[in-house]
Amino acid sequence: MGIDTIDVDRWRREFPILETCTYLVSHSLGAMPRRARTYLEQFANEWDVRGVRAWHEGWWEIGRVTGDLLAPILGVEPGTISMHQNVTVAQGIVGSCFGYNGPRRRIVMSELDFPSNHYLFEGFRRYGAEIAYVAAPDSTRIDTQRMVDAIDDRTLLVPLSYVLFRSAYVADAAAIIEKAHHVGAHVVLDVYQAAGAVPLDLAALGADFAVGGSVKWLCGGPGAGYLYVRPDLAGTLEPGFIGWASHAQPFEFLTGAVRRAGTPERFQSGTPNVPALYSARAGYEIVGEIGVAAIRRRSLALTRRLIDGARAAGFRVNTPDRDEERGASVVVDVPDGAAVTDALVARSVIVDHRPGAGIRIAPHFYNTETEIDHALGVLRELVNG
Ligand SMILES: Cc1ncc(COP(=O)(O)O)c(C=O)c1O
Repeated sequence: MGIDTIDVDRWRREFPILETCTYLVSHSLGAMPRRARTYLEQFANEWDVRGVRAWHEGWWEIGRVTGDLLAPILGVEPGTISMHQNVTVAQGIVGSCFGYNGPRRRIVMSELDFPSNHYLFEGFRRYGAEIAYVAAPDSTRIDTQRMVDAIDDRTLLVPLSYVLFRSAYVADAAAIIEKAHHVGAHVVLDVYQAAGAVPLDLAALGADFAVGGSVKWLCGGPGAGYLYVRPDLAGTLEPGFIGWASHAQPFEFLTGAVRRAGTPERFQSGTPNVPALYSARAGYEIVGEIGVAAIRRRSLALTRRLIDGARAAGFRVNTPDRDEERGASVVVDVPDGAAVTDALVARSVIVDHRPGAGIRIAPHFYNTETEIDHALGVLRELVNG
């Protein structure tokens, strides 16, 4: 799968927004592929023309079909991914597979993890969960050894961002998973900032769970979150946060205790988010067609150019320098970063800003060297006058 050299001009034509601005914000919202509109029209036509019959002409199974399209991008087997509204819901379902009143009830997380994880698992304190936040040496990286040391036989879950949203730091997931497995804990890898930009082989890595969404590097739009569960573990789990779509025979409408479906359907809740899964298909197809390995090669070259240019201009870069530690975005810290970001956007250089981090700039496979140089030029003008 995949090609070695990306035909950037060809792919740019597939993303209309690129003609209107310098779009460097794919860590937040990947550009919309033309074919997403086609798929959304297909959804509208089916709803319009087929009505309720559409459920049994593909809509009901759309979660599994979409998960299978995503599976090679995550490096997992087909039939291991269920689709959900977002990462929070997927993490909530993972959390609902366990009890929190025994000796193993600790959740170990980095203090730098995405806020949703903190908020969600803080809520699990009411069920008896203990939370251990692992301090970071600074705001850009996780200290692997501290994470490893914090995981012990009281640890139940380790939610871990594979790529940190605030600095693009790539965690040493293998070391953390190894320790977790050694003591009988489970790692929930959040691959949102990696999927579609950084090659993933989650099966080889041995991740117990993985969660993410499609809004960013997958160019799939909102509403298509996903949950991967390690196949040998999945059938043994009994999530508590479920609905009729998790039942073995949903259309029997049996009441009382659930008879669980097999995997991955047992992790579903209710009615699938059909339009979101239609729109997500476009991005998955394109990322699959180009291949994440080729995307990664281009991404590393573009982020390197960005880092070198930012440093040459005297700006502080809050992103790891080493390729193997860097995801696909670059965080540049300048005085009054929020205001400078507004000014960049006003000049059609679309980036964003995160407090305590800096301006996040994210080239994807469809961006060019010229766009990087243009963004740096505008940034220099704004900061240095
Ligand atoms: C690493 C990471 N995890 C989770 C989220 C949020 O996920 P959701 O809105 O799907 O719950 C984000 C969004 O920015 C993110 O970057």
